[in-house]
Amino acid sequence: MPVRTFHKKLTAPVIQAMKKSGAKIVALTAADFITARLLDEACVDVILVGDSLGTTLLGYESTVSVSMREMLHHLKAVSRAKPTALVVADMPFGSYHQSTAQAVRNAVRLVRDGGADAVKLEGGKSQEKKIQAIVEAGIPVMAHIGLLPQSVLREGGYRVQGKTPLQAGRLKKDLHAVERAGAFACVLEYVRASVARKLTRYATIPTIGIGSGPGCDGQVLVTSDLLGLQTWLAPRAARHYAEIGRVMCDAFRHFANDVRVGRFPGKRESFE
Ligand code: KIV
Repeated sequence: MPVRTFHKKLTAPVIQAMKKSGAKIVALTAADFITARLLDEACVDVILVGDSLGTTLLGYESTVSVSMREMLHHLKAVSRAKPTALVVADMPFGSYHQSTAQAVRNAVRLVRDGGADAVKLEGGKSQEKKIQAIVEAGIPVMAHIGLLPQSVLREGGYRVQGKTPLQAGRLKKDLHAVERAGAFACVLEYVRASVARKLTRYATIPTIGIGSGPGCDGQVLVTSDLLGLQTWLAPRAARHYAEIGRVMCDAFRHFANDVRVGRFPGKRESFE
């Protein structure tokens, strides 16, 4: 399988074309400059400034609380890293729900003021017109169907999607709607693996799965989950590739102890 090893700016059409070439799309989230730099160094294809930053970095109960102001703040930090990866910004809850005009206006802000290369918004058929209008404004859109974290209040929780033939049929309609609207890729979140595989086979645009099994065209994870940053959290769909939370905690304890016993700073860290 082709792997990206060279540093050339990735665009939405290149990501879309990866479906045909069979290269798996690798996407991870970032909300700060350092993480964006490191993800780019690791040749990740897509850096998603996801609204999951609300629950991970900012400590909110859900992503519903994330504002445009907060999203722009984090997006700008990521953009300053000038990644060659495609930078996709999540449209926060309430930033595209009122009207098509509002959706286009805020998508433009994320690109023009925040430096995003593309935007992502949640919803299938219900968002078709808005996706179409944003694409017509010249902004690539990544769609997001299946579990929609911004709808947690209405749904009353986070559940695997596509469990019944009716739900699977609805997902197929949603995917078709976002394709028709001109989305260049679609996130499938927590969709039953067999359904996600079928949707991927049927789709003309790449699917990027999270908790949706190996049959998708690409995979996305929340970076803090991959790193094991939150020692108190282990979502089933994520794999800890490191235990950075524990490493950090050990380092903090070590420093605190050194200060308390007078071992820090030493000669090397002092200026005579
Ligand atoms: O906000 C986010 O991180 C996301 C991913 C879970 C796809 O939308």
